[in-house]
Amino acid sequence: MIRICHDLEALSLAAAELFAAEACQAVRVHGRFTVALSGGSTPRRMYELLAREPFIEQVPWQSTHIFWGDERCVPADDPRNNALMTRQTLLDHVPVPPGQIHPMVCNSSPLEAAVEYEALLRSFFAGGRPRFDLVLLGLGENGHTASLFPGTSVLDDQQHWVGEVYVVEEGLQRLTLTAAAINQAALIVFLVSGHGKAPILREVLKGTQDPHSIPARMVKPVDGGLLWMVDRHAACLLRQRKE
Ligand code: 6PG
Repeated sequence: MIRICHDLEALSLAAAELFAAEACQAVRVHGRFTVALSGGSTPRRMYELLAREPFIEQVPWQSTHIFWGDERCVPADDPRNNALMTRQTLLDHVPVPPGQIHPMVCNSSPLEAAVEYEALLRSFFAGGRPRFDLVLLGLGENGHTASLFPGTSVLDDQQHWVGEVYVVEEGLQRLTLTAAAINQAALIVFLVSGHGKAPILREVLKGTQDPHSIPARMVKPVDGGLLWMVDRHAACLLRQRKE
């Protein structure tokens, strides 16, 4: 499913509304809301909106459990750190109990950090599958999502829920949920904005390239929902009716 919004502001508002609705529904049905947040710049405005009226009142923050889809292995105060961005825009302003916020921490080796985060997830999901109520994802211009980058070995990891990856273009180690883990979610939502994403969005949605070269195409929920929330600039190469 694709939802086309007028611009980034409209997209961010629609995404905040969806986040609040999913959170309320999850708490109603099973007493908690478990979400894996995305890094990058696109979700910033959505996070800022969630920290304000009406969402700060609407979302059951006390029953919300925050995880991340990926993280760069940089210090917690490094501006590239996804958890830092989320704290500055959202988590420092809403009453999620601190024990329910679970950043990916890369202090040890990336592999050890991946093993630790996976152990946390397996404990949280009590031995079941990683059934996030919502996974938020972005889309890189090279087709990556989370830190699932083209041509990396983590793409084919069907055994683990968390992997470590060295991103050559950045000279950075990263941690990421594997596609196998992401695909267990109840709902996966991509947020994509801007003309710069139009070619890759068309390739992901309409192309036939091997998913290993466009990892976003590996995101196929096993039995959950998949929603592309995009603005009209990113959608300009798609033949879709605008909402
Ligand atoms: C990250 C994200 C990454 C991001 C895309 C899009 O840590 O950078 O997880 O997958 O979502 O690169 O980034 P923008 O939203 O900045 O375009």
